[in-house]
Amino acid sequence: MACVRQLLSFFFFIILMIPLLTTLAAATSNISLPGCPSKCGKVTIPYPFGMGNGCYREGFQITCDESMTHPRAILFRNEKHNNDVELINVNITTGEARVLNKKISYVCFNGTSRNISGGLMFLRYSPFVFSNQQNKFVAIGCRTLAYIASQAKPNSMYFSGCVSTCSSRNSTTGDGGPCNGLGCCQAAIPAGLTLYSVFWSNTFNDAWRFNPCSYAMLVEDGWYKFQVQDLTGLDFYERNKNGVPVVLNWAIRGSPCQDGLMKSHDTACRSRHSFCHNTRNGNGYLCQCRQGYEGNPYLTGGCIDIDECKSLDKYPCSSNAICMNSDGNFTCSCPKGTYGNPYVNDGICIKIPEKFSHHARVILGSTLGGATILILGILVVMYIQCKKRMEEKEEYQKYYQMMNDHLRVFSRKQLENATNNFNEANVLGEGGQGKVYKGLLENNQVIAIKKARAVEETQREEFVNEIILLSQINHKNIVRLLGCCLEVKIPMLVYEFVPNGTAYHLLHRNKTSPISLGTRLNIALESAVALDYIHSSISRTIIHGDIKSANILLDADYTVKVSDFGASSVVPADEIIELVHFSRGYLDPECLYTQIITKNSDVYSFGVVILELFTRMEAVYLDEKGERQALATSFLSKARTNEHRKMLDVDLISNNGKVIEILDKICAIVGQCLSPKGDDRPTMSQIVQELQKIARLHNSMLGFQSDSEEAGS
Ligand SMILES: *[C@@H]1O[C@H](CO)[C@@H](O)[C@H](O)[C@H]1NC(C)=O
Ligand SMILES: *[C@@H]1O[C@H](CO)[C@@H](O)[C@H](O)[C@H]1NC(C)=O
Ligand SMILES: *[C@@H]1O[C@H](CO)[C@@H](O)[C@H](O)[C@H]1NC(C)=O
Ligand SMILES: *[C@@H]1O[C@H](CO)[C@@H](O)[C@H](O)[C@H]1NC(C)=O
Ligand SMILES: *[C@@H]1O[C@H](CO)[C@@H](O)[C@H](O)[C@H]1NC(C)=O
Ligand SMILES: *[C@@H]1O[C@H](CO)[C@@H](O)[C@H](O)[C@H]1NC(C)=O
Repeated sequence: MACVRQLLSFFFFIILMIPLLTTLAAATSNISLPGCPSKCGKVTIPYPFGMGNGCYREGFQITCDESMTHPRAILFRNEKHNNDVELINVNITTGEARVLNKKISYVCFNGTSRNISGGLMFLRYSPFVFSNQQNKFVAIGCRTLAYIASQAKPNSMYFSGCVSTCSSRNSTTGDGGPCNGLGCCQAAIPAGLTLYSVFWSNTFNDAWRFNPCSYAMLVEDGWYKFQVQDLTGLDFYERNKNGVPVVLNWAIRGSPCQDGLMKSHDTACRSRHSFCHNTRNGNGYLCQCRQGYEGNPYLTGGCIDIDECKSLDKYPCSSNAICMNSDGNFTCSCPKGTYGNPYVNDGICIKIPEKFSHHARVILGSTLGGATILILGILVVMYIQCKKRMEEKEEYQKYYQMMNDHLRVFSRKQLENATNNFNEANVLGEGGQGKVYKGLLENNQVIAIKKARAVEETQREEFVNEIILLSQINHKNIVRLLGCCLEVKIPMLVYEFVPNGTAYHLLHRNKTSPISLGTRLNIALESAVALDYIHSSISRTIIHGDIKSANILLDADYTVKVSDFGASSVVPADEIIELVHFSRGYLDPECLYTQIITKNSDVYSFGVVILELFTRMEAVYLDEKGERQALATSFLSKARTNEHRKMLDVDLISNNGKVIEILDKICAIVGQCLSPKGDDRPTMSQIVQELQKIARLHNSMLGFQSDSEEAGS
């Protein structure tokens, strides 16, 4: 049914596209009303602004003054020519207009007489207000107190001002420094401001010898950069005679808009693909093109479809995918026979294995032979292929989508660059399944890349499964999978880099450096917590399958990060799997004849790891006679004659009763974990609880010890 619908919608799509394409071709990217000039000199004048009769919306008239060498766009014309307000630019998206403010106020004093030039600017009765976000009131001078008084709302005066002091030119903030009150100062202004006037305090006037003139103005935030030279004479004023930039907010004043729609027919949002939104600075609204369109929403037909496929920097679509523009949107899809998430620029579409597409191709070939029923044939093929595609899509995109939500997909090039072409010098370790390389990404992030041995096409699906499994694990004691690379025959996994080596290194590399009981308990507990987490996740049980001290990575402060889930398997709760991947010395003997591993096998291996932690002996070691011995077997046989304590690391042996108790409890856990029958072993949750108890005992012991030491000294 879904496919029939797809075919139908395809035909309707074609029929609908014909008139649409013609209107698209007719639409132009004009920004002014038809027949109206759109530029004055270098300034673009978008509607509702305009020049000439019928070219602007009331209140947005611009006069183009061409009497000078450079044409100037005048926003507020004044009888006195030098009081004109010149427009620099307009932004119809943000509702901002940048104009030149010629009203720099100054006060000069020569010891006896004073000259003041006031600054008054008035926008009332217009759709404009001063932007409170983009402007600052700035005063320049030493011993300067300036303020603006203004009427933001009827019947309420507002004062905004600042003080700047300096005892000499040397004691200012310095050239380019912030306006923090040493040479210059600044203050915010309120919203809704349409009128302001500058006032000066005349008590601050004894600095005239080195700073004869002070200035104050409303100006675009960030425009003014302090210069010590500005404290001299009227330099600053002369330099900026043409005005300083100030930002105005404009809007369609009057009735507000609701839910993006204007009730009245008088809406300024004329484009069919536009909506309105209320402004924050003053009453009124602005129009905006809907998502997928750009242009001028104030004009009929002004919002034009964006061809997203032409600006892939803003609308990502993988280079090997098919990008199709549509009205107000676009689609980016993987070519037939591939799958993946193409909506990323370095994304990839992966070939679907042969067995999936073969069937459809055979039907296509034979049908094309009968040319007489060509049309019918195409329909049949489309239907069949559509059904196939939907099945394939469901199967693959489900996975891929899940993967893409959690993971970053790396390109081979990125990983080659990160590892210096998989240089041997970058190898961190080598295991049964492949090599692990250290890599450095462009953003200086250090990563570990696991490059697996070649995977057959049939195993690829399994591999995808595994990546999904790993990507879902988010636990502080488990190494985080950052991403993967599927572009290559040999799949690669990218992990976070854990800097401090492994528990194996810690225990066996440098046997002379002592390891405290606390550190060992912590490593045991955190590893147990991580394994408990993967064993008891609700929907699926994950079996690690290769627990050993070399797979317990250590971060700063010996924080545990369990790694290498290469042998892991996902099983529905309470099922078992057929897979034997254990490392020597850690292998559950039960697996030898059952050939299946279960959660209990992980528990056995974990028992060996704890034993390793507290004996500091390797899982397979050479005894006094030079013969290979399994640590677990030796422990169990010694335990039978109650001699197992002699195996513990001598560093740990102590007369402290609590230490003896702790070690006994540890030996008990190990004994249970190594039970020959899997069902007799404790679960990871039970082990965690037991280790937590031991950790508390250890903590209380530390507290007790330090108390007694204090008492003794
Ligand atoms: C804008 O419209 C005018 C006539 O209305 C036309 O001459 C001009 O080419 C158009 N400009 C653009 C950029 O389409
Ligand atoms: C308007 O402002 C927006 C947001 O700052 C900016 O992205 C856009 O380029 C501006 N448009 C013009 C014409 O300056
Ligand atoms: C005040 O202005 C007059 C005329 O421009 C000028 O001659 C005089 O020097 C100024 N006085 C001060 C204190 O700047
Ligand atoms: C200050 O300026 C006034 C008027 O411009 C002038 O009469 C007076 O002599 C000046 N005083 C000094 C100390 O220069
Ligand atoms: C300002 O600094 C300069 C050089 O650092 C120095 O020569 C001058 O005497 C100082 N002036 C004052 C008033 O401190
Ligand atoms: C564009 O298409 C995508 C996928 O079909 C859809 O999720 C999205 O909402 C669409 N965007 C717009 C603005 O219509």
